[in-house]
Amino acid sequence: MTRFAVLASGRGSNLEALLDATAAPDVPGRVCVVASNRRRARALELATERGVPTAVLSHKGFAKRKAYDRALADLLAVYQPDWILLAGFMRVLTPTFLDAFEGRVLNIHPSLLPAFPGLHAQRQAIEAGASESGCTVHLVDRGTDTGPIVAQAVVPVLSGDTEDRLAGRILAAEHRLYPMVTRWVAEGWVTLDSGGVSFDLPEGASRRIPM
Ligand code: GRF
Repeated sequence: MTRFAVLASGRGSNLEALLDATAAPDVPGRVCVVASNRRRARALELATERGVPTAVLSHKGFAKRKAYDRALADLLAVYQPDWILLAGFMRVLTPTFLDAFEGRVLNIHPSLLPAFPGLHAQRQAIEAGASESGCTVHLVDRGTDTGPIVAQAVVPVLSGDTEDRLAGRILAAEHRLYPMVTRWVAEGWVTLDSGGVSFDLPEGASRRIPM
């Protein structure tokens, strides 16, 4: 059984989709802990409601990012996760954390990377006049949203879209894409070696899904 630690700072809608997906008996993966830097994150409540262990490590009180990341890595290690899933975790992770889980940290970002990395990706897409956008699950490296892409879901940008409307459409796509990739990882269909990510997907599976 593949063990996933989920890191979330906020409302936790992706976490909820991941908890639903990993509760399915035919998925060989389980969320072993949900951790947050915010004590009041809704994500923690969702985990508790499902009987999943939670952990809180506030960033307040840590003078250096590196010290926080060391403490967070140590805290998660107790739960022996195979993979770390970032789901709206509002902190940039330093190499101190990433080295502890090398090549085993995934993130979901609300754009079709490499377009529109960083904050306000939906607003960036609208302002750029993009005709489509979507979301990307990628491995986390030392850059901002620059790691190897695992899969993407594409949605249209419609005329008259506001940032909120587009964000809602993308979020619905996120809730399909992240569980799909999590399943791939749990099944061992996505592997990493020195050459990068390789895929051994079942017939019909696509790394770019239209919505
Ligand atoms: C999502 O838009 C995700 O793409 C981004 O953070 C947001 C998290 O939302 N990384 P939620 O907390 O999962 O609802």
